[in-house]
Amino acid sequence: MKLLVDKINDSISYIKKYSLINPDIGIILGSGLGLLADDIENKVIIPYKDIPHFPVSTVEGHKGQIVLGTLSGKSVICMQGRFHYYEGYNINDVVYPVRVMQKLGISKLIVTNSAGGVNTNFSPGDLMIIEDHINLMGTNPLIGKNLDSFGQRFPDMTEAYDKQLLEIAQQAAHSLSIQINKGIYAAMMGPSYETPAEIRYLRIIGADAVGMSTVPEVIVATHGGVSVLGISCITNMAAGVLNKPLEHKEVVEVASQATANFIKLINRIIQGI
Ligand code: HPA
Repeated sequence: MKLLVDKINDSISYIKKYSLINPDIGIILGSGLGLLADDIENKVIIPYKDIPHFPVSTVEGHKGQIVLGTLSGKSVICMQGRFHYYEGYNINDVVYPVRVMQKLGISKLIVTNSAGGVNTNFSPGDLMIIEDHINLMGTNPLIGKNLDSFGQRFPDMTEAYDKQLLEIAQQAAHSLSIQINKGIYAAMMGPSYETPAEIRYLRIIGADAVGMSTVPEVIVATHGGVSVLGISCITNMAAGVLNKPLEHKEVVEVASQATANFIKLINRIIQGI
């Protein structure tokens, strides 16, 4: 069986056949937020299914392709669609694209997601810059033999979310008059949404938003020395906050409605990086 590092090299060789770009910024687009990729100039699109060793996305609202090109004057690689642990992937597959982006040379990663609002001051459609996270997924993508060429066995997570990038994101939002929140993202395994009791628990332990992604990718990015900016789109109030059931369709719809602000914001942030 091929070693992970050899698989990553196969993926890189394939991508490099189609694009000579050396991306500095990686972007992972969450559910319903994929339209940002349309703004990328001189783009090369590569479906995940064509890239050797790449997992393939199964969730509705996720396109499943990488887009390389220029955004606001910077070289970027964008993942339109991500892999979730709840889809049944091995946790190493979930973070595989992050390893590929790292090996392609990114120094920064912008991760985005849809999340439920745990903080009752939030409203659907709000954006939240992730200040820190709580990993409740019951797994960690660094389990197993350490990839020494990427980082150390016990990586520090004190500043998993880069303060400078957070500052740039806040200023970008301010300059666009986009209201922005800051908060803590709690990651659950899913795919069932949380119970109201779980949401009360998450609030007590300090979470502002809850979702089923992002944290494995951020752990791997941090392990590999990549600076992270995380942005959640609050697509719904979490279970039990309002007196109504949660629906995936609504999550995708609200994310799509928030997309115009989201796209403006990411473009402005990238200008400021
Ligand atoms: N819970 C978990 N994940 C989510 C939610 C939620 O309420 N909304 C969007 N993703």
